[in-house]
Amino acid sequence: MASFRIACLVVLLVLVVGPVAVWGGTVALTHRGGRLLTGNLNIGILWYGAVTEKQKQAVHSFLNSLNPSGGDGEPHVSSWWHVVESYQAYTKTGSGKGSPTITVKVVNEQYDPNYSLGKVLIKDFIKKLMPKATGGKPNTLALFVASKGVTVQDMCAGSCAQHGLIEEQPYVAVGDPEEECPECAWPFLEAPGISVKPPSGEVGADAMVMLLAGGLAGAVTNPYGDGFYADARGDDILEATSVCSHILSAQQARLPVDPATGGAYNAKGVSGTKFFLPAIWNPKTSSCWTPL
Ligand SMILES: *[C@@H]1O[C@H](CO)[C@@H](O)[C@H](O)[C@H]1NC(C)=O
Repeated sequence: MASFRIACLVVLLVLVVGPVAVWGGTVALTHRGGRLLTGNLNIGILWYGAVTEKQKQAVHSFLNSLNPSGGDGEPHVSSWWHVVESYQAYTKTGSGKGSPTITVKVVNEQYDPNYSLGKVLIKDFIKKLMPKATGGKPNTLALFVASKGVTVQDMCAGSCAQHGLIEEQPYVAVGDPEEECPECAWPFLEAPGISVKPPSGEVGADAMVMLLAGGLAGAVTNPYGDGFYADARGDDILEATSVCSHILSAQQARLPVDPATGGAYNAKGVSGTKFFLPAIWNPKTSSCWTPL
């Protein structure tokens, strides 16, 4: 049997660095009375620009790992998704009720390799690209995945993962933050004193998955702006994962290292994939949670 090396990463219980010093255990997410996304969550993806194969694979594997058929080992990406699903039980009207599965399925996929609307994705452009992402299918969440070199609106202003609504249709927009906003590639970049290598071997791919996880959690738990959030400074709000930013492990666990890539991970996915997922607010315990 191959010797399994677990690198001893120094993991801090709660590590708050940089300008995001809002979280200190005092900010709680509360439900504002609005609807969440539930049931079947169909997703249409638009790959915008020179998105790498590894990035596409990482995004697909992450989405495929949300509702697995089992057998991949623990801790699993689906445990993280169960926390997202659990918000249903903690709405004002949902108290005491269960939290049905939210089944994610990719129903459309398109490519825009030549940056048809340029390298700055503002909301107006996202609106124009919406039909391309959804393929015109109704009730489909549009997921925009932009390559390195594309500035996604607001990526570095306030939050790292973008989600919103355009004509009642939800969207999530993520980019590769390595160059545009390295602080959004935490903990792979901009994490003084700690060393976390990306589980896929590519910072952009794993940073994208972290942003996507955060954006998707926000889109599900606060789709219409009246779901779960906490007020932050000014007009800013904090959502499911942004309220828990920069937490490596809420359980004081040492992150295991994948011997294949040397990357640290806190969740396993389908087909042997490994991920580093953001800490998420757990409405059951009113605290931030990570799979490890
Ligand atoms: C993108 O540009 C390349 C090179 O100019 C071209 O060969 C290719 O057909 C273009 N692809 C699309 C989808 O427009």
